[in-house]
This record gives sequence, structure tokens and C-alpha cells, in this order.
Amino acid sequence: MLRTHTCNELTEKDIGQNVKLCGWVQSRRDHGELIFIDLRDAYGITQVVFDHEISNQAHSIAEQVRGEYVIQIEGLVRIRPQDTANDKITTGKIEVLVEKIQVFNQALTPPFEVSDDINIGEESRLRYRYVDMRRPVMQKALRMRYRATKIMRDYLDEQGFVDIETPILTKSTPEGARDYLVPSRVNQGKFYALPQSPQIFKQILMVSGFDRYYQIAKCFRDEDLRADRQPEFTQLDVELSFVEQEDIFILFEGLLNKIFKELKAIDIPQSFKRLSHKEAIERYGSDKPDTRFGMELVDLSNELKGCGLKVFKEVISLGGKVKAINAKSCADFSRSKIDALTEKAKVWGAKGLAYFVVKADGVQSPIYKFFTETEVKTILSKTKAEIGDIVFFCADKTDICHNVLGNLRLTLAKEKNLIDKNSFDFLWVVDFPLFKYNEEQQRWDSEHHPFTSFAEEDLDKLNSGDYANIKSRSYDLVINGIEMASGSIRIHSPKIQKKIFEIIGITDQEAEKRFGFLLEAFNYGAPPHGGIAIGIDRLMTLFLKSDSIRDVIAFPKTQRGSCLMTEAPSAIDQAQLNELALKLDIIDEESLSN
Ligand code: AMO
Ligand code: AMP
Repeated sequence: MLRTHTCNELTEKDIGQNVKLCGWVQSRRDHGELIFIDLRDAYGITQVVFDHEISNQAHSIAEQVRGEYVIQIEGLVRIRPQDTANDKITTGKIEVLVEKIQVFNQALTPPFEVSDDINIGEESRLRYRYVDMRRPVMQKALRMRYRATKIMRDYLDEQGFVDIETPILTKSTPEGARDYLVPSRVNQGKFYALPQSPQIFKQILMVSGFDRYYQIAKCFRDEDLRADRQPEFTQLDVELSFVEQEDIFILFEGLLNKIFKELKAIDIPQSFKRLSHKEAIERYGSDKPDTRFGMELVDLSNELKGCGLKVFKEVISLGGKVKAINAKSCADFSRSKIDALTEKAKVWGAKGLAYFVVKADGVQSPIYKFFTETEVKTILSKTKAEIGDIVFFCADKTDICHNVLGNLRLTLAKEKNLIDKNSFDFLWVVDFPLFKYNEEQQRWDSEHHPFTSFAEEDLDKLNSGDYANIKSRSYDLVINGIEMASGSIRIHSPKIQKKIFEIIGITDQEAEKRFGFLLEAFNYGAPPHGGIAIGIDRLMTLFLKSDSIRDVIAFPKTQRGSCLMTEAPSAIDQAQLNELALKLDIIDEESLSN
């Protein structure tokens, strides 16, 4: 080894020892005859001192050294003068008096300081990711991520799971996003798809008798990128045979208990709360509700169906809803603030945002006059509104009401600081509908993916065409309002699987072409099976309270799907296109590299 210790190891007990340290120059202070360098490695910082009386040669090299140079020093550990000790670092009581220095490499002045408090745009951080990852906060994030995946592996290993890799060059998997495609040179005109998840392969592994599979799997999805999405991301993917929903809950509750205990020393509930999908939507306006605070949606449709306000009355008579939330202690909101919320509500789909401001001298509201005294009383009592509160109303199609008030609820909670940022709230959302109606294309889609099984008692509905009311055996794990994991008990009957494809408009021919191998495999003896996958990037973002999913990924992509360090994606040359028998149909000739 080129070093005897790391830069976070030496303490008073090492005084008098001759040591070798390696690392990067964090800072250098030149006091003429004495030069101080803070030497940094992944573990910490040690102060090293160059005294020209001890080694003139080392001292004169130290004069030339600059920030981020990579060096090795050899010298004697000694105590620092008392008033110069630094209590903030492990090595703060000692320093190394240098006898020899070797400069392994010089360094250009870094584009930003290697420190946690930098105030620079993310672009620069992504462009110079290797410098960015030297910062302690990034070191901590990626090491923590490693610890988490290590715990996952150990936990599953102890329970008899086998880690099996599945292909990256494969066929399309229906997870609802667009595929990333890879052209084949050998089979010109044909394409591999990168997996959106290992879904089909893990089900086939069940048919093969690997009854407990897991994989830390890369998934690729070409979809609109949002704050918590990456085009390639990582799942802990799990599948088991001969299980029920309950078994999967117990498995994951145990796993998360272990991760939170070992990494954060937090005891989380042994078993997590559960909420049906219907209740989640009706009470919180979301299928991934943040249940760390109340402000639940209240349905006033029944009470207001005969009210004097035309829009409310009409919406209700057309089968829509009037729902409301009580914005506690928000009566001091200014008119312009309410206007701004209304504008937001319009973006979420609302036509307007009616309100009641509850003051000591009564309700202030432009719509107050349209309600009878009894109606006003009912509104206030059902929303539990008191003096100082605002009741916001949304009258619209049911799903628009839910979207608008669900979003408003989150916005108000942030604004009013209602969320305890240190708490973790775990929730299983269960009983999703099996299908959702696609208004645009006038057909049924799978709510999860088409391999999801459904409640046995709903088999009749499948045959009678009552698709809206079939409950699936799928579940989501929601933490603090974030969809963290998702899974289901699968269909294992080829006949039922075919029927589902038929309902969602995948013809026999198409099913054969896309998933024929799965249907065929099911004909050779498929066990009942089910599984789940948790997004590791999302879990770590939450865990580290990071603002961005990119902060827990070594080499992430931007919102536009590019890597600023490697400049991927990039143009390819004509020869490569020819080999693949591809012709580009783009106007911008410059995007070709030659
Ligand atoms: P699903 O598509 O719900 O299920 O994905 C499971 C979990 O993966 C994470 N995730 C993402 N993380 C970052 N960026 C993305 N673009 C992204 N998309 C998804 C989320 C999500 O909860 N095969 C099924 C699982 C199963 O049924 O077993 C699946 O992939 O945390
Ligand atoms: P620092 O906080 O490391 O910059 O230290 C404060 C000051 O203490 C520096 O300006 C140094 O000059 C001085 N100092 C630190 N260590 C020593 C030491 N071993 N001997 C003399 N002065 C020191």
C-alpha cells in the first residue's frame, strides 16, 4: 500500500509514529517557513506540516503544490499546539510533520470547490461529476446507497433468495413507457428493446422453479422525465412462487425495518398502514397520498345538490362532484394569494376555485349568497371549519376534483409547514382497479401491467364485461407520499392471461408476437406467483432527504436525458449507420458527427 493510514485515522494514540498518507490537497496555507496542507481522502482530513528545517526539499515541493494535487507524504505524527486543535475533525488533535513528499499528479484548478457548501449550478456538477463526487455529501450518498443494497442482498440471501441476472438486450416489456431500442447489426432491420423492468423474465424464472428470485436490476424507460424519474434507474426486483399478497408485505416490511434500523437507527412500524385505492383517492385525491397530515377531501355533493349556485348544481346533476378541503388557519391569505392558488388550480384542471373565508363576523365569500343557512352550516360542520380557516371548493368531474384538491392539499401543507420533515410514513395502497378506461382511445388499459391477477370473486365480472369493478391483486408501497414500490400477484393461467390481453386490445396475433414465449411457458406448468419492485434511487433520495434523484446516482442524466460528462447521447458516423442499415430522417445535418 502507498499509505499506512487513511486521512481520518490518526489520533493522539499515534503520536510518535512514522506514517504515510495519500490524498488530495484540500487547502494549503503558506506561512513562509511553515506550510500547512489539509490532506483529504474519502475518509477525512489530516493536517500535514512542512517545516523547511526538517526537510528543505519537501518544503520547497510543498510551495509548488496547489489545490486538488494528488500527493503522498511520509512523516511523524505529533500533537498540535493546544490552541490550534480542531475539534470538528477526528484527526484534529494531531498533525503530521512531513519528511518526504511525492506529487503523484498535478491538477487544474477545479471548476468549483470540493466542499459541501457550494453555490453553483447543477450543470457544472454533472459536467465535472468526478470532482463533484469528491464532495463529502456525495461520498456519503453513494456509500449509503451501497450500504442499503448490501442490506437488501444480505436480507434476501438469508431468506433463501437467489440473485439471477436477466438480459438487457431483449424484447419490449409492457410497463407503460416507450422503449429504448438498440438496432441489431447482425439482424439488420431488427431491434432489441432495453427492459423497462425484468417483469417477464422473473415470471419465467418462477415457471423454471426458482421460487425466490431477486435482482438489483437496471430498468430503462423513455418517458417524460420528472423530478423523481430517470430514464435508466435501478430497482430491487423480487418474485416468489406459492405466495399471497400478505407474504410479500411481510417480506418488504421486514426489509425496510432492517434498512431503517441499520442505516438510520430508526424503528419504523413492524407492519404498515393500509388504505384501499378507492379510499386513497376519495380522501386524499391521490393514489399515493401523503398521510403525514390531514386536510382530507370532503364530499358535499349530496348536501349541495339543490343549492342555489348554478355551477355546483349542474355539475352534481351531470354526475360530477362538489368536494372541499379545509385549509386550516389560512384565513389570513391575501386576495392575491387566493388568486395565485386559483391559477394553480386551473393548471391542475379546475375551472375555478371557490372559497369560504371563515371570520369571526361570519363567512366572507363571493358565493356565500347562493347558499341557505342550513347549507352553510352543513358545509362548515362537514369540513370542520372554524374561525380562521378557509374552505376551498372544487366542482367538476370526479377525477378532476380529486386531482385539483389533492394537489391543493399538498401545496397548502408545504406552505403552512404541516409536514414533519423528520417523519417517515409508510402506507400500502391496495385493491387497485384492474383496468382503467382510456377516454382518448375509448378502450380499457391495465392499471398496473397486464400480468396482474385479480380477486377471485371478480371472475364473473371478467366474463360479464363489468371491467370497471374488478379489483386487482396489486399493491403500491407509498412512503411520505412517494410511490416507492409496486407489485402484484400475477396471472398464472394462460387462458386468463389471453383474456386480459384481449380486453386491453392486444390481439391474439399481437400477444403471440410480443409475449408468445410467456404464454407458451405458462403451458408447461406455471406456479402461482407474485412479486414487487422498489425503486432504489427514489428510496435513497428520500433516505438522504435529497432535493434531487440525481444526487444519489453516480452518473445521472439530465431532464433531457443526456449525460453532461460523456455527452451521451451523441451522433454516430455514417459507417456505423451503414452497418446497421439505418438512414436518418432528420433535417439537422450537423447532428451527424462527420
Ligand atoms: P413499477 O413500474 O411501478 O413496477 O416500478 C417500480 C418502482 O420503480 C421506481 N421507478 C422509477 N424510479 C426512477 N425513475 C423512473 N423512471 C422510475 N419508474 C419507476 C418507482 C416504482 O415504484 N415490474 C413492476 C414491478 C412488479 O410488478 O413486480 C414494475 O416495474 O419507485
Ligand atoms: P487553521 O484553522 O488550520 O487555519 O489554523 C489557524 C491558525 O493556526 C493557522 O493560521 C495556522 O497558522 C495556525 N496553526 C495551525 N496549526 C499550527 C501548528 N501546529 N503550529 C503553529 N501554528 C499552527
